[in-house]
Amino acid sequence: MILVTGGAGFIGSNFVLGWLARGGDPVINLDKLTYAGNPGNLVDVADDPRHVFVRGDIADRALMAQLLREHRPRAIVNFAAESHVDRSIDGPGEFIQTNVVGTFHLLEEVRRYWQNLAEPERGHFRLLHVSTDEVYGSLGLGDPAFSESTAYAPNSPYSASKAASDHLLRAYHHTFGLPTLTSNCSNNYGPRQFPEKLIPLMIHNALRGKNLPVYGDGANVRDWVYVKDHCDAIEVVLNRGRAGQTYNIGGNVEKTNLEVVHALCDLLAELRPGRDYRSLIAFVKDRPGHDRRYAIDGTKIATELDWHPRESFSSGLRKTVEWYLANQPWVNNVTSGDYQQWVARNYTARTAA
Ligand code: NAD
Ligand code: DAU
Repeated sequence: MILVTGGAGFIGSNFVLGWLARGGDPVINLDKLTYAGNPGNLVDVADDPRHVFVRGDIADRALMAQLLREHRPRAIVNFAAESHVDRSIDGPGEFIQTNVVGTFHLLEEVRRYWQNLAEPERGHFRLLHVSTDEVYGSLGLGDPAFSESTAYAPNSPYSASKAASDHLLRAYHHTFGLPTLTSNCSNNYGPRQFPEKLIPLMIHNALRGKNLPVYGDGANVRDWVYVKDHCDAIEVVLNRGRAGQTYNIGGNVEKTNLEVVHALCDLLAELRPGRDYRSLIAFVKDRPGHDRRYAIDGTKIATELDWHPRESFSSGLRKTVEWYLANQPWVNNVTSGDYQQWVARNYTARTAA
């Protein structure tokens, strides 16, 4: 069996659903169920005996020790994190607590568990830490894409906290020999993404006739990967990656934010006609410290593990919009309560630029 942390969030739930659908080993899914964690993401496996959900914190050492002792996983995939850059600017504390302190506690318990394993389990064990391309900082338009040897230069409290966790993984491999793997991925999109992130937020607002708030000049560039491609890549790295290595994962899709929002407006005009969606675009005050461009050089994962993204941006975006249109009760469920307060806090101060 494998232990997945953060498996009720966006990428974690897509990973768990895909893994079990492909007949993978049973999964223990440990998730704190913060605002971003949603048991509704896992309804498809609610009756699957291969899926056991445990509500809890990766920083809870006693719980982690108990889960490791009882279930003896052959691998752990760590998705658990605070993940939204704007929230890390609003309040960095939770990011340090989960992404840095939580990862440290997880590592300590995993080290103890792994050191006490007998061969061959000890040799086969892997801890895969899911990280981000944001640890590399910001690129200029003409700069080469991030490779695994690009120096870390995180710019937001979120990316700094993820960089710290990556460094801890590196140190536990180097010092203790813990068989770690780290993946650094670019921007994901697809079903079940919380509507605080660019793509689902724009779909949500557009359908309600609300402004589409584009930060700054809208020319910041992100490299978009469809979430199911990312999940496939994680599985490949888990199965065939070399212990102690890091692997960059990207979609080979560099787009400005304005290009993404235009593409969404045009898709909605086709699938939900009746409104001039582009007229809702509003340029608003920029994100402080806003990274200009991210881009992934995926040479290592392509040559070493033969992994390549399969989804094109146009097909992936269409699937994404169709999923949100077909799942409005899911959206209504996650956008009640706290969500409204977050939107008011983040956007009220961003008057039109
Ligand atoms: P998310 O915010 O949707 O989900 C995070 C999940 O972790 C939630 O279910 C939450 O309840 C859980 N969680 C938070 N703190 C926890 C704790 N202390 N203990 C246990 N569970 C906890 O995030 P996501 O977008 O699915 O990202 C998952 C991982 O992938 C994160 O580590 C993120 O840094 C990384 N990542 C995300 C992207 C992206 O574009 N979304 C890209 C690259 C890497
Ligand atoms: O690169 C990987 C990272 O991608 C992950 O590590 C993060 O967890 C994930 O949140 C994402 O970070 P970004 O900051 O790039 O994603 P976000 O969706 O918040 O923003 C994408 C771009 O869109 C960014 O340039 C900011 C801009 N933006 C975002 C929002 C929410 C807007 O213009 N308006 C908005 O309302």
